[in-house]
Amino acid sequence: MKALITGASSGLGKDFAKILSGMGYDLILVARRTERLQDLKDILTTQIEIKTLDLSDYQNCIKLYDEVKEQQIDILINNAGFGLLGKFFETSLDREMQMIDVNIKAVHILTKLFLRDFMNRDSGYILNISSSASFFSGPLMSTYYATKNYVTRLTEAIYKELQVVRSNVYIGVFCPGPIATEFNQVAQVKENLKSLNSEKAANYAIHQMFCRKFLIIPGFMNKCLYLFRNFIPNALLLAITYRIQKKKEGKK
Ligand SMILES: NC(=O)c1ccc[n+]([C@@H]2O[C@H](COP(=O)([O-])OP(=O)(O)OC[C@H]3O[C@@H](n4cnc5c(N)ncnc54)[C@H](OP(=O)(O)O)[C@@H]3O)[C@@H](O)[C@H]2O)c1
Repeated sequence: MKALITGASSGLGKDFAKILSGMGYDLILVARRTERLQDLKDILTTQIEIKTLDLSDYQNCIKLYDEVKEQQIDILINNAGFGLLGKFFETSLDREMQMIDVNIKAVHILTKLFLRDFMNRDSGYILNISSSASFFSGPLMSTYYATKNYVTRLTEAIYKELQVVRSNVYIGVFCPGPIATEFNQVAQVKENLKSLNSEKAANYAIHQMFCRKFLIIPGFMNKCLYLFRNFIPNALLLAITYRIQKKKEGKK
């Protein structure tokens, strides 16, 4: 049993690794920070392979697939990703292009390449890590919200295609609200919102994945938000999202 996890050097990815290794899975762990991955490898008990790669380079995504395709991988978790707080007309274009590369292109490429192999075997799990941000537009975090909209919509469409051909391959999407990880620090968030515990959130996602649930939303409030969002006028939703994101700027 083997799983590949991108963005395993911290936060959710690190917790996915601990959980799956605890269940007996050998792992391929991907991120840029080798030392972090090595520290994680040292505390895990199954076989761990480290791949130090920058997934913002799409050639690296293809290289990753080529290097591991002969191994039987049972689970792919597309987890690597990051955000950036700020007004769209002020934030860095370079940083946002990197974000699109990691949050969208890497997820797209790895999902496609591994899905083809999984389809041939008619088995395997793909879990794409999106966000509750994917249900909304996100003023002050516009690019991040838009990238996660892409991930959820893409995954949902693939889910339908697999359902129609009665495939045994699972694909699902994890859409949490705020989780206590390094995400906020990377996204230049000054004030943290109330957050879920990363280990608990990762446990929930893995459990729901094995139950073959497509849309995985942890937390009662987030589930309500998802269910009732269509009954709230868009202008009000935008105003609420703006206020929430504004809080993240902290007091100036
Ligand atoms: N925390 C939240 O509030 C929250 C809420 C909803 C969804 N999410 C999603 O959850 C996922 C995991 O984030 P997290 O909260 O665990 O944040 P995190 O602690 O910052 O972890 C992000 C991971 O992504 C990796 N990564 C970033 N850029 C990369 C690149 N260019 N190439 C390879 N790996 C890269 C990082 O590794 P290196 O820096 O070592 O490369 C790190 O392991 C993300 O997709 C995020 O959007 C987070």
